[in-house]
Amino acid sequence: MCGIIGYIGVKPAFPILLSGLKRMEYRGYDSFGFRVLDSDNEPFFYKKTGKISLAEPELLTMKVKGRVGHAHTRWATHGQVTDCNAHPHLDCKGDISVVHNGIIENYKELREELQREGHKFVSQTDTEVIAHLVEKFFDGNLECAVKKAVGFLRGTYGIVVISKNDPDKLVAARSGSPLLIGVGENEFLVASDPAAVVSSTKKVLYLNEGEVATITPENYFIFTERQPHEIEWSAEDVEKGTYPHFMLKEIMEQPSSLKNSLRGRLIVEEGRAQLGGLKSVEERLRDIDKMYIVACGTARYAGLVAEYMFEEYAGITTKVDAASEFRYRKSTMDRKSAILVVSQSGETADTLAALRDAKSRGILTLGITNVVDSTQARETDAGVYNHAGPEIGVASTKAFTSQLEVLALMALCLGRQRQLSNVMGQRIAAELERMPDLVELALKCAPHVKELAEKYKDSENMIYLGRKYNNPIAMEGALKMKELSYIHAEGVAAGELKHGMIALIENGFPAIAICPSDSVYEKMISNIMELKARGARVLAVATEGNEEIVQIVDDVIYIPKTLEMLTPILSVIPMQLFAYYVAAARGCDVDKPRNLAKSVTVE
Ligand code: AGP
Repeated sequence: MCGIIGYIGVKPAFPILLSGLKRMEYRGYDSFGFRVLDSDNEPFFYKKTGKISLAEPELLTMKVKGRVGHAHTRWATHGQVTDCNAHPHLDCKGDISVVHNGIIENYKELREELQREGHKFVSQTDTEVIAHLVEKFFDGNLECAVKKAVGFLRGTYGIVVISKNDPDKLVAARSGSPLLIGVGENEFLVASDPAAVVSSTKKVLYLNEGEVATITPENYFIFTERQPHEIEWSAEDVEKGTYPHFMLKEIMEQPSSLKNSLRGRLIVEEGRAQLGGLKSVEERLRDIDKMYIVACGTARYAGLVAEYMFEEYAGITTKVDAASEFRYRKSTMDRKSAILVVSQSGETADTLAALRDAKSRGILTLGITNVVDSTQARETDAGVYNHAGPEIGVASTKAFTSQLEVLALMALCLGRQRQLSNVMGQRIAAELERMPDLVELALKCAPHVKELAEKYKDSENMIYLGRKYNNPIAMEGALKMKELSYIHAEGVAAGELKHGMIALIENGFPAIAICPSDSVYEKMISNIMELKARGARVLAVATEGNEEIVQIVDDVIYIPKTLEMLTPILSVIPMQLFAYYVAAARGCDVDKPRNLAKSVTVE
């Protein structure tokens, strides 16, 4: 690997290039070279085999003017170690010069084509083709010529280009070889290694893949060549079709949205999940022992379900926080921590602010979002897309169940990296694979829920209660009711009831109890009895086949049986429908509730 450095600013370039090159000598030292532009004279151009440290006494005697230049220390890849093969390399007229770190794989065909066009080559290197390509496109603007030239290159490069005929700039480009810009006081450096710039400045920014930067004595400009991506959605996806509201359409299409979120991500026979978006950080994920899940609103409730999943199946200490609170806390994150931001839109201001705060601390940042190429998707180190399709209804439904499913996949991934057994992994994977069909079954309660909505639509208050995995669903169910029907509804951990909330209960007070046949079912029944003893009207979400519950509560909505950790994906379905039908019965604007917006992009 080679060392490259460029300088532009108020000081003479040569001494800075020399000291920077010496600091990179470890990167390659079979030869070196300099080129410095001098407005009054021909450029200073010197290159030689051998170590720069040995040539330093001679170099220090040289009087080099000029405040724009670049330099290179070489580790030969193409062409022997000779003065001629050292960098910088020139175009035919000796106007443009290039220093390069990387390998141009298609240099042979490019060289032949350029020679056919009349270009004269003097070295055996791959790098020289870059100088002649830039010359071919140069019409007075160096960065335009470089952008065109790099489009023909295959392989890796980090380059710094200068030109006598466009002298007041460095042009840098990166693909596959690191390149950074050092931002000093009235000066800028470009280098392949921070060691080369640290004596001038500690403020650096790395170019991203495919970026081209123009650096002048006053500023730098980065040109990002990002390819467009194919929108996964179709036009009818953003139409209501035969549904009266987008929200009902999106509730009803959850079997297919969950199928899409699972596609290609389950290896049932091995009890594993594969999330391509986390591949690049797979090894780092093995080392984390604390997960911070940060989100807003409904997305936060998905995080609260994941808190149980990650702790129970991956053994990772997990902390969930509202993004608007997280960013004001004293950070307890350390290098064995990771932050996971969850956001349907990928644009929620508070969530992005929390992400950026964690990123600035060097914490591994992960994300789950439903919008490809959203700000969150572009700023996290790694992440997973929901692929749930566009969610137009302001109240989040299919995105939420997709978040729960993706979080379960993540729990499976993390668990199988740790102590989760193959057998348990297979059970979770097999049940996840059934979720779309089980949701299809859960949706069959819709007509019954619609009838119940008529009975509850004039309520002024409601409480929702749940335990463990369904505690967050109690909160989500209450949020759905609040934001759609404007009835005051509160979600509460059922065990908290007797610590104050139960004072609200009076005759006929509506209480929604989420009590599937799981590990806390008996506790839930006790809470329901406490409510009934004070006259509450209780609507229970229960597991199909549970006959006992009918004797205890006023109304029952059944859901299919599944693993406790996956129950929330089913128990939320009647909650979504209940809020929808109550709101519709009250004549509320279901798709665009008052005061709300689909994506809260302000803090
Ligand atoms: C949910 O029904 C609401 N629309 C709201 O709580 C939403 O979940 C929250 O604003 C977060 O949005 P995001 O998922 O796009 O970040």
